[in-house]
Order: sequence, then C-alpha cells, then structure tokens
Amino acid sequence: MTTDESLKNLVREKYTEVANQSKDFNAASCCGCGPSCETDGEFLGIMAEDYTKLSGYVADADLGLGCGLPTQFAQIKEGDTVIDLGSGAGNDAFVARAATGNSGKVIGVDFTEAMIAKARANAEKLGFNNVEFRQGDIEAMPVSDNVADVVVSNCVLNLVPNKANVFKEIYRTLKPGGHFSISDIVLEGELPAGLQHAAEMYAGCVSGAIQKSDYLGLIEKTGFVNITLQKDREIVLPDSILAEYISSEEIEAYRKGNLGIYSITVYADKPSPAAAEIRIRTAKPTDKESVTELLQSAGLPTADLSPELSNFLLAFVDGQLVGTAGVEVTGDYGLLRSVAVKESFRNYKIAQRLVNDLTKQMRLQWVKELYLITTTAETYFAKQGFEKVERTAVPTEIAQSQQFSGLCPSSATVMKKSVEKPKIKLLELEQASSCCTPNSGCC
Ligand SMILES: C[S@@+](CC[C@H](N)C(=O)[O-])C[C@H]1O[C@@H](n2cnc3c(N)ncnc32)[C@H](O)[C@@H]1O
Repeated sequence: MTTDESLKNLVREKYTEVANQSKDFNAASCCGCGPSCETDGEFLGIMAEDYTKLSGYVADADLGLGCGLPTQFAQIKEGDTVIDLGSGAGNDAFVARAATGNSGKVIGVDFTEAMIAKARANAEKLGFNNVEFRQGDIEAMPVSDNVADVVVSNCVLNLVPNKANVFKEIYRTLKPGGHFSISDIVLEGELPAGLQHAAEMYAGCVSGAIQKSDYLGLIEKTGFVNITLQKDREIVLPDSILAEYISSEEIEAYRKGNLGIYSITVYADKPSPAAAEIRIRTAKPTDKESVTELLQSAGLPTADLSPELSNFLLAFVDGQLVGTAGVEVTGDYGLLRSVAVKESFRNYKIAQRLVNDLTKQMRLQWVKELYLITTTAETYFAKQGFEKVERTAVPTEIAQSQQFSGLCPSSATVMKKSVEKPKIKLLELEQASSCCTPNSGCC
C-alpha cells in the first residue's frame, strides 16, 4: 500500500470514530481529535466558527469539524449546483442548500462511509430531495465534468495527501466561469518539531497542512484566476499548551518569529472560455460517436446521421466536444440540423459561431437557401437572420428529404435564410489560378 493510501485509511478510520461521537467530543479541534486531546475545553472553538446563525443551519450536521465559514464568501445563487468537498455530516451542504433553494442542487462528497450515512440520514429527516451525498475520494470525484456553479469545502484539503489532484478535480467539475470558496488550515514558516506534534494532537488538521504560499501557488498553477484570500486568521495556541511540548525559549522564539498556523478562506474563479479558446473544425467520420452522444443529451435525433458527417462543424474547448451543427444539402438547398451546445457552455455564442461558419461553408458550395425546423428556438434563430416561412413555401427537395418529412411535427416552425453568393465564382478562381505560372505576373 502506498503512503498516500495508508494516510487516507488513517483519516477514514478517524472520521468513522468522529461520526459516531458527540459534537462536544469533536470540537476540541477541527479534525475531531477526541478524548486524547481534551483539555478542559481549552481548545473548544479555536478552529471552528459559529455556524448557528447561518440560514440553513442544521444542528445534527454540525459536528464541530470546520475551521471557517466557506459559504459566507461562496456567492451561491438560487438554482445553483454546489459541490461540498469532504461534506462530513452535511454542515455546509445544508447551509448551501438554503441559498440554492429548491431549484438548485447540492452534492456532498466524502470518503468516510459513516459520515455519508449520517449526512444522508440528516437529509432524509429534513425531507430534502435536492441534497445528495456521494461516497468517494475528492482526489477523483464521482461527479461529471463542468457541472458545478460553486464548490465549497471546510477544513478538508489539509487532510488530503495530494492537494494538486483535488484542485484539478475542482477545476474539472466546475462549469467555466464557476468558482470555489474553501476554508482550510495552512502554515507559515517551519514549526518547531515539538509544536508540530502539539499541533497534530490539538488540531489534527495541521498534520497535513502545507505552507500558505504553496497552497495558493497550487491554485494558480491549476489555472484558477481572481484568487482572493477572503479570510486569514491565526490560530493562537495558548502558552499553557505550548509549554507541554516546547521549551520556554522555543515559545519565545515562536511568538517572535513569523511562524504560525492559519485558518484561511480562499476564493477563485475557473476562467470562462474566451472566443479564442473555442476551436471549430469540420467533423470526421471518427467523431460520430461523440456527436451522437451530444445530440442524445440534447434530445435531438441521431438515427439518420450520415456516417461521413459531411457538412457538420464541431466546437471544442480544451479538447472536449461542446457543440455541433450540421447541414443536409439537397441541390441548391440546405437543411440546418443538429444544432446543440453542452448546457454548461451555452453562454459563449458557440451555436451562433457554428451556424455562421456553416452558412459561409454553404455559400462556397453554392447553396441558395438554408432551412430549419424548430419547436423551441424560433426567437433565437430569428436573431441569426432566419425568417419564418409557410410549409408550402419549402422547396420540394427539402420537403421530401428524410430529415424534414421524418422529423417535422406539424407544430414546428419552419424558418429560412437566404445565403448570399460568393462575389467570385470558384470557376473564375480556378481559371485565375491556372494563369499563375512563374513570371506570368498575374499573381
Ligand atoms: C474536518 S472534517 C470536515 C467535515 C465538514 N466539512 C464539516 O465542516 O463539518 C473532514 C472530512 O473530510 C473527509 N475527507 C478527508 N479526506 C478526504 C478525501 N480524500 N476524500 C473525501 N473525503 C475526505 C473526512 O471523511 C471528513 O468527513
């Protein structure tokens, strides 16, 4: 077993115990170190912040394990999808749910079975059907790409051996333009060995904590932007406790030096794709499977897709297929079809770019008119220069095509756009190029 795996097993064992203990038992540290570190309540509240005033607070979900209030800076809006990493008994997930309302969704991820069971029981008691708890490792989350508007987490990443993996997972699961708000424990300076031990005992979170600058550096390296330290609070360990682990000289040096354990809350955005990052190219036969998948997810027909996907354009962001549009050409006419963009990429005018580029392509193929049929997007296509036409005005070539006759319910709207001809005929271009012999001077 690798060191990382054995560390994770230790963490899992510890949180299985924690899930079965009372809040007071756990609150001695953000990581619930239990009776081994109880000191007459001296450490109660050192890490955790007061949740009880937050909207959506659920006492049964608050095991006293947090070290900040990530939801305070998470800018969660009604209808948002939120992921809570290391959700424990659901403390932050229920607060997030109060902000998303019934129209949103909250997904809590935790790898400790006893925590998941506790969180699910809490959700069940409250009758929430839009808060879901999934058992899994946040280094490889059981969540699809680009689904979350917001990711939150409270005092968890410090426990994870490979924090870079977690930030990559956050990036993967956030929608472009989404953001995270994470509370966690970090260090500044090398703690004296004895204090490191004390910190591990009294604040178990600290054992896996890394330097603040490294933590922020990892976030930047992952590709996040607008990285903002919303809160930066030193966790002050009292002398009486320090004295149990380090000498009075070391205490003095510690107090004077730039060393410390900090609870931070950090915010960052996943960048939105700029127009330049959206790549558009002609489809190849090998794209058929991914195009079919995208069309199916958009509820569009796929049975009649030609295997060549001729006259289909595809849009990619970071190598991922995010949009498609195709034209079936019959003589002088084209039928625009299969215009679909992945839900999380719908704010970037990708459909508009695909349709514009296809129109240019049709112009070069001497198509005179483009037609389409729609039940839901009449207003959208009107903005792209299509006008509504009567079915009787549709040319026979299009009306009799399999796509039109097979897929056009009587309730659907038929729309048309004239395709302007290129200024120079291809034939003329060919003739022009044939004269381009060396020294002819015509080029
Ligand atoms: C300190 S507790 C915080 C719980 C919760 N965020 C809260 O504030 O109440 C840490 C939680 O993270 C979970 N955890 C730790 N490492 C994890 C990992 N690699 N993947 C998923 N969950 C993890 C633990 O099981 C535990 O429930």
